Amino acid sequence: MADQLPELERAYFEALSYRLDQSGRDCAPDRTYREMRELFREPLPETGCEGTEVIRGLAQKGADGLTGMTHPRFFGWVLGGSAPVGVAADWLVSAWGQNAAFHASSPTAAAVEEIAGEWLLDILDLPREAAVGFVTGGTVGNFTALAAARSAVLKKHGWNSDRDGLFGAPPVRIFVGDDAHTSVFSVLGYLGFGRERVCRIATDLQGRMNAEDLQRKISASSGPKIVIAQAGQINTGAFDPFDQLIKVARSAGAWVHVDGAFGMWSRAHPAYRHLTEGVENADSWSVDGHKWLQTPFDSGYSIVRDGTALETAMGIDASYLPPRNEGDRIPAFLVPELSRRARGIPTWAMLKHLGRDGVRELVGRHCSVARQIANRLQRVKGIRILNDVVLNQVVVAFGNPGLPADIRQEMTVEVIERLQESGTMFVSGGRWRGEWIMRLSVTCNATQQADADPVADVIESVWADLAEAKGL
Ligand SMILES: Cc1ncc(COP(=O)(O)O)c(C=O)c1O
Repeated sequence: MADQLPELERAYFEALSYRLDQSGRDCAPDRTYREMRELFREPLPETGCEGTEVIRGLAQKGADGLTGMTHPRFFGWVLGGSAPVGVAADWLVSAWGQNAAFHASSPTAAAVEEIAGEWLLDILDLPREAAVGFVTGGTVGNFTALAAARSAVLKKHGWNSDRDGLFGAPPVRIFVGDDAHTSVFSVLGYLGFGRERVCRIATDLQGRMNAEDLQRKISASSGPKIVIAQAGQINTGAFDPFDQLIKVARSAGAWVHVDGAFGMWSRAHPAYRHLTEGVENADSWSVDGHKWLQTPFDSGYSIVRDGTALETAMGIDASYLPPRNEGDRIPAFLVPELSRRARGIPTWAMLKHLGRDGVRELVGRHCSVARQIANRLQRVKGIRILNDVVLNQVVVAFGNPGLPADIRQEMTVEVIERLQESGTMFVSGGRWRGEWIMRLSVTCNATQQADADPVADVIESVWADLAEAKGL
């Protein structure tokens, strides 16, 4: 049978050999983007070639420019590890070639997505009546939910923004924490609110919003309002005090949106559940599947308590589109796209595979690995852990605070480079509270408890070599 579809067989073989070799491979790519661009650059072919050749060539050429994101020691940015079950389900999605917009276009895709949505609300323990839109990730999750927020808060003030746009509309005041994720500001730009025309709320050393500052600022403002809170700060993993913030926001009549790209998954574990106390009282949430749930890219969820608000904001209609029966959930009515990938299927597959226990184990294991690495590193002279490790994120800085800031930065950058060059792990950098930091994010399903000590050993030894070379 396979020789009738040799391209698929070839891709299967290439995918398997990549995955089976994974842990023996370096985490960092062997070639740079520029090198890869040269490797792939050729004129548009005038004539085509065999499909198997295309796939073989892609796998061979592409291999050197791949980053080991599914590697057990990948700690870069905040990314999940595309677990095999999710990848396999995603292969089926591609092979089935379904347009998942409507029931009529794909009953299977529409039904599986609906069930996946119900499971998400269950495991995240969010209002069961909420609507779940399956989108590409956290950014579009924020966009989609905030579009619903825009529509709803303006409607409350007598303005139909979906029909009439924003010109002449009552100004919407946006309240957002000073340490919100950068994508939130981009989304505010896309939505016509402006990236900077926001009221920024003070945060503490971990990046948590100060409810008193929100109270002060929101009570001085009138008109439609949206408060954007966060579950899982990108550097520290910190959580806003939802209970307090939501009370303040509610008494001011504001919509509350929560950016919980990875942090919302902490609700699946009883030991971490307290971090999101009260978050269920918000109006909307954005969560990623391709982070902690380990679905392959791209996968995110825009969850909105008032499904009508979401449908109003995302509304689409034409005579040629299939009719809607009362009570039916139409996938395309909850997201910005019309034609769309059946993104609910990998999510369904991961939840079916892991079950509640499996997600709990994953979250618990990653948080425990993060804690162990942090505990080890904070005992080393010249290494500082700058965050309270409440979840899976570890913020590390190198060099004593007595050293000039530029020297500390140089050293942290160099440690990151040396770790990357060693091929043993992948970490990323960033700025936190004025300091250049190394950030470890433990979110890859392949990472095991047994990885913690060897990872700490390598970081410690790279730092020891550097400190010695610098005469520290
Ligand atoms: C808190 C937070 N919000 C939003 C995003 C953006 O998510 P995505 O990259 O899936 O669009 C991220 C990504 O790391 C994040 O950590």
